[in-house]
Amino acid sequence: MDQKRQIDWEKLGFDYIKTDFRFISVWKNGSWDAGKLVEDNTLTISEGSTALHYGQQCFEGLKAYSTKNGDIQLFRPDENAKRMQKSCDRLMMPRVPEELFILACKQVVRANRAFVPPYGTGATLYLRPFVIGIGDNLGVKPAPAYIFCVFCSPVGPYFKGGMKPVEFCVSDYDRAAPNGTGNAKVGGNYSASLLPHNEAVQRGFADCIYLDPATHTKIEEVGAANFFGITESNCFVTPKSNSILGSITKYSLMHVAREYLQMKIEEREIPIDQLDEFVEAGACGTAAVITPIRSIEHNGKSYVFCKENDPGPVTKKLYQTLTGIQFGDVEAPEGWIVRV
Ligand code: PLP
Ligand code: COI
Repeated sequence: MDQKRQIDWEKLGFDYIKTDFRFISVWKNGSWDAGKLVEDNTLTISEGSTALHYGQQCFEGLKAYSTKNGDIQLFRPDENAKRMQKSCDRLMMPRVPEELFILACKQVVRANRAFVPPYGTGATLYLRPFVIGIGDNLGVKPAPAYIFCVFCSPVGPYFKGGMKPVEFCVSDYDRAAPNGTGNAKVGGNYSASLLPHNEAVQRGFADCIYLDPATHTKIEEVGAANFFGITESNCFVTPKSNSILGSITKYSLMHVAREYLQMKIEEREIPIDQLDEFVEAGACGTAAVITPIRSIEHNGKSYVFCKENDPGPVTKKLYQTLTGIQFGDVEAPEGWIVRV
């Protein structure tokens, strides 16, 4: 058994904890170098770096899970690698090869084994891969060099209380434009969400939900998670939109709903004034896992989806099955689990 760090695993929130090693690879003159693990958690970059001025950067989020028998495993890292390639394409950054991405994740987890939360604590090791444009530059153009880095931090629930239902309001702001970067995991989407999030919190909500930027009539997503609703006829419904992030958790839940729980699934537009069709609702993502939504407030009306401290039965089953797969207690579909 590895010597674990003295951390109160059950009390972890979603905060930065400095771990021992991170992986860094540099792109210059057309290729990525082999990369290496380093101890320094600071980066020294040119003041002209495009990441600093023009937001030429993207990131990913995935987790390492401890199983009952002490193994450590990643959940669908190939999907994160592919999504990061799409984000890189969108911002004219060089793609990180899938093999380099997965190698970096595995090396970071192995080197920081002491920080991987033990099975049964509910906590996980969150991995944060990112690519930034670096090097001397002034005009609006792609950077001459790039850093790909993966660091990690042990985490608990993103929304306080984990499976405790949260209350959301609908935002008047947009996080992304109709044909903008909403479907890429780039920093600008998140800085655009800071003010709306803060205003929602000031009003007593856990976060806000965005509507489609073109018509403001359809549900898009939360600032850091996708949305799903469950209808009375046991159908898992989730928004289809060009301006939301393709959530790996959401697509995994669609598979779980259909193949494990024999539910119907629909990925389609969800008009905000038809939220009454749902008997349960939730936010889903790597950090959020499944966070049950107690209510959504829109134009003075509150749509309620469960009791105060009691998520609906389908949300609970989805949560148990998904986390069962991630922690190795439920058999996973082929290729979803990668041992570290
Ligand atoms: N939507 C946004 C805006 C996110 O930041 C995230 C988190 O990654 C998600 C959805 C959920 O995506 P995933 O399930 O791949 O973590
Ligand atoms: C994730 O779920 O991985 C996210 O990126 C959400 C948030 C912490 C930005």
